[in-house]
Amino acid sequence: MRKTELDTPCLVLDLDIFEKNLILMRDFALDRGKNLRPHVKTHKCSAIAKRQLAAGGCAGLCVAKISEARKLIDAGIGNILVTSPLVTDIKIKNLFDCLKLAPELTVVIDNRQNAETLSAAALEQNSGMPLRVLVDIDPEMGRTGIAYADALPMAEFINGLPGLKLEGIQCYAGLVQHINSFEERRAKSLELMRKAAEVFRKIRNAGMPVKIFTGTGTGTFDIDTDIPEITDLQVGSYCLMDAEYCNIGGRNAGKNFTVFKPSLSLLTSVISVNRKNFVTVDAGLKAMYFTPHAPPYVSNPAGSAWRYDWFGDEQGKVFFGHEDMKPYLGDVIELSASHCDPTINLYDFIWVVREGEVIDKWEIDLRGCSR
Ligand SMILES: Cc1ncc(COP(=O)(O)O)c(C=O)c1O
Repeated sequence: MRKTELDTPCLVLDLDIFEKNLILMRDFALDRGKNLRPHVKTHKCSAIAKRQLAAGGCAGLCVAKISEARKLIDAGIGNILVTSPLVTDIKIKNLFDCLKLAPELTVVIDNRQNAETLSAAALEQNSGMPLRVLVDIDPEMGRTGIAYADALPMAEFINGLPGLKLEGIQCYAGLVQHINSFEERRAKSLELMRKAAEVFRKIRNAGMPVKIFTGTGTGTFDIDTDIPEITDLQVGSYCLMDAEYCNIGGRNAGKNFTVFKPSLSLLTSVISVNRKNFVTVDAGLKAMYFTPHAPPYVSNPAGSAWRYDWFGDEQGKVFFGHEDMKPYLGDVIELSASHCDPTINLYDFIWVVREGEVIDKWEIDLRGCSR
């Protein structure tokens, strides 16, 4: 079956592009002496996670939520870092259930009370085996994490708790990933990540044998590798890409970020052609995550002046310019996603294509795992 024969709206993954993205990132990281710890929040798909691991160069994988970790464990993947703090009783119970199956599971901590709770739980529920933890450092973003200045005392505190094993630090500077200018992005990211590197050195100099400094996203993958202390890159979007990332500036004053190519796209069909300057398509807000500053763009037909715009829950509009360029009823149009993570989360599966031919179907098995 050709991809244009698929029922729409649906997601497709171009396997050739996807595989090139994996190899490019792996080779880049290994060349700079770093590992990858790809973030599964991007794709929520254990079939993709397994391919990232198989490509090599990975120190493990990241998830945002413990429910995502559980799905990966059930799919046979064990070396997972949960990048968001686990605080409530039910999450801690779920964590220790996961640990019985995947003892390498690692979590982040930004709070002393949470550290004490997790330490006590590990002693009680984990056969006395210490839980692996990282100090989560806030890169002045204010989401989670502890201020740079408080990170060393926090590391010392954790190091003194019998149920915890301090493995290192996490610092993910989400606030810089989409800064448009490469030079500004570079300067800001290096400023923030160097502060985290200083904390990492202090922890080591204080005699704690930490070995992980994890951070970095797709927007700074070739910036943060200049920091010697960073051990692994928590990159997520690079394997699929989206309009948000394609829109940012590239290295050497490049207008766009073109290192990784979009492997993910969304197919939508023209369902009404009765208007003068646009046609109506069957993909709206329920088919694609809405990002005002990066609307989906038409990737196929490539080079056309067609432009997608939102048209409510179920539909979208495609403006076509000149009358001669008007799409026909039933035409299938391919769009890039605005933002890949929440778009993928709307689908049960993704069609896999090579040269336009459908060759496989992968389940988005972590879909909806937001707990
Ligand atoms: C903690 C953390 N690490 C890594 C990533 C991956 O970032 P990106 O998709 O920019 O590569 C994210 C994305 O939001 C994140 O929240």
